[in-house]
Amino acid sequence: MRTGDVTVAESVTDLAFAALEDRPGMPLPRRSTARARRWRDRAEHLLRHDAGGCWVAEDEGHVVGVTMALRRESLWGLSSYGVLPRLQGAGIGKALLEVAVAYGAGCLRGFICSSHDPRAARRYRSAGFTLYPAMLLTGQVDRSLLPVSEGVREGSAGDLDLCNSVDRQVRGAAHGPDFEVLLNRSTLLVCDQLTGSGYCFVETDGSPHVLAATNRRVASRLLWEALARADPASPISFGDVTAEQEWAVDIALAAGLTVRNEGYVCLRHMRPPTPYLPSAHFL
Ligand SMILES: CC(C)(COP(=O)(O)OP(=O)(O)OC[C@H]1O[C@@H](n2cnc3c(N)ncnc32)[C@H](O)[C@@H]1OP(=O)(O)O)[C@@H](O)C(=O)NCCC(=O)NCCS
Repeated sequence: MRTGDVTVAESVTDLAFAALEDRPGMPLPRRSTARARRWRDRAEHLLRHDAGGCWVAEDEGHVVGVTMALRRESLWGLSSYGVLPRLQGAGIGKALLEVAVAYGAGCLRGFICSSHDPRAARRYRSAGFTLYPAMLLTGQVDRSLLPVSEGVREGSAGDLDLCNSVDRQVRGAAHGPDFEVLLNRSTLLVCDQLTGSGYCFVETDGSPHVLAATNRRVASRLLWEALARADPASPISFGDVTAEQEWAVDIALAAGLTVRNEGYVCLRHMRPPTPYLPSAHFL
């Protein structure tokens, strides 16, 4: 994949995911302009840091499939993966995943947040990943149920060393340069106390994006503070939550959100980190 492929790669993955949510009689759920911009920004970021993990598949000179993988210290992760709907199921995805996985040669651990597409699950299991069924929490936060959350403050670039150090303890590898992207588009919350530390990036709508902490007490404080920032009139959502994050499921349910199962967290040579809420794209 080259920089010149980014625009078409974005639309290929958009169509791949839209087809997954296609409902008879409903318009295809395409990405908003803002989300498409974010996808392209992420692709450019990964091309800068992980050019060897970013691949496209071509058919007669046209991009028909995309995969983007990253390596952070000893962890390999899959950030994007899609094939044009009319060509799915014909082996293009298998070829793309093979080159993306090869980029992780030498990495101890592998991490993928999978959609609910059975084709994706089949590919990931065939590549040796363990599939952990995941939950999606959605809804409007009932503000009358929010407890007082203490010890959490807004963070800045000066806190990224702390975030990387929490990452290494909790998931075995730092996010490194990915934090710069996250910091540009979301709010960083930090809790740093004698008994434990943690961080959470919160989307503009209040959805927690990635959260890591050295204990559940700190993780719970961060998640409550993230939920407290949600607009009470707008629904929020966060997914890729496995049963190991029951602390987060309990908080979401207590805040009035609903739970359903969707997709998998797919891991190789590691157990689900906890307390941890992954980023679907930066793991
Ligand atoms: C996931 C995806 C990238 C895989 O690409 P692909 O070209 O379809 O993959 P392949 O054809 O190599 O492999 C698909 C596998 O699923 C099987 N399959 C095909 N249709 C299927 C279906 N409806 N249900 C279950 N399995 C199916 C195929 O037989 C193949 O398995 P096999 O190689 O063991 O025979 C592609 O299907 C896609 O874009 N899906 C929508 C977006 C998405 O969910 N991306 C994953 C992000 S985590």
